[in-house]
Amino acid sequence: MAVVIDGKEAAASVISAVSEAAASLEKATGVKPGLAVVIVGNDPASHAYVSSKSKMAKQCGFNSVQHSLPEDTTQGDLQTLVSALNADPAIHGILVQLPLPKHLDADPVIQSISPQKDVDGLNTVNAGKIATGDLTSGLISCTPAGAMLLVKRIHGDDLSGLNAVVIGRSNLFGKPMGLLLLAANATVTMAHSKTRDLAGVCRGADILVAAVGRAQMVKADWVKPGATVIDVGINRVPAPDKGEGKTRLVGDVDFTQASAVAGAITPVPGGVGPMTIAMLMANTVIAAHRAAGQTAPNF
Ligand code: GUN
Repeated sequence: MAVVIDGKEAAASVISAVSEAAASLEKATGVKPGLAVVIVGNDPASHAYVSSKSKMAKQCGFNSVQHSLPEDTTQGDLQTLVSALNADPAIHGILVQLPLPKHLDADPVIQSISPQKDVDGLNTVNAGKIATGDLTSGLISCTPAGAMLLVKRIHGDDLSGLNAVVIGRSNLFGKPMGLLLLAANATVTMAHSKTRDLAGVCRGADILVAAVGRAQMVKADWVKPGATVIDVGINRVPAPDKGEGKTRLVGDVDFTQASAVAGAITPVPGGVGPMTIAMLMANTVIAAHRAAGQTAPNF
């Protein structure tokens, strides 16, 4: 039976370090880290994510600002808000929640966020820094940074000699995750929907990272015995056993099956999920330190 990696506990320890760093920055310089979260439209799941981000920012002692814009917001309105936040010295981190409503184009919005305030790490400046091996001067995308922290809890900082497979190639997760594993010396395969014999490729992984968005797709026979399995999926599925119309969250990995084969595995919920918010707070306090001319902490 695999070790179950406790993302809640790991996230709580990051949050505690972030809160301490925020308090000492404010004491030393008077600068309070400021995080602005922007949400457009009425998607209930996105609203739930955003309110937990805003709440956690307050808990860390930040100046937490939430901008909830109506569904019919124009591209111009959104760009105007981002420009105002870029120019606001009290704001050190800007996050525009994705996905945006269909009539809006996310890419120009993301690219217009000042790279120094891009706490999502999605700007090409920050994405490019990871791609060129600079993991110190930019901001790293929160979910891969959090997943990597969990991998390092199991394997340490040096993944030399280990095969890592990432399923999924998104800009938000798969690509930066592959690059972070590579920077830690793993031998990395980026698998995706067009990969031939996906199960066979996954079976070669000492570290298997699933980010496909398909409920319980990764089965026991995809997992190498003793492998570390990191499940980034958050899928809501019907749970008639809990009552009519009830649902539950499951990952991209069939946890019951895979945990019988893996050496270590993240649960859903309670694995990578809590790490995303924790690393967002970490990025915000890092950005605030840099803005105040102070050496930023490491997490
Ligand atoms: N939607 C789902 N995850 C994320 C995230 O990490 N950042 C943003 N901006 N939107 C998301």
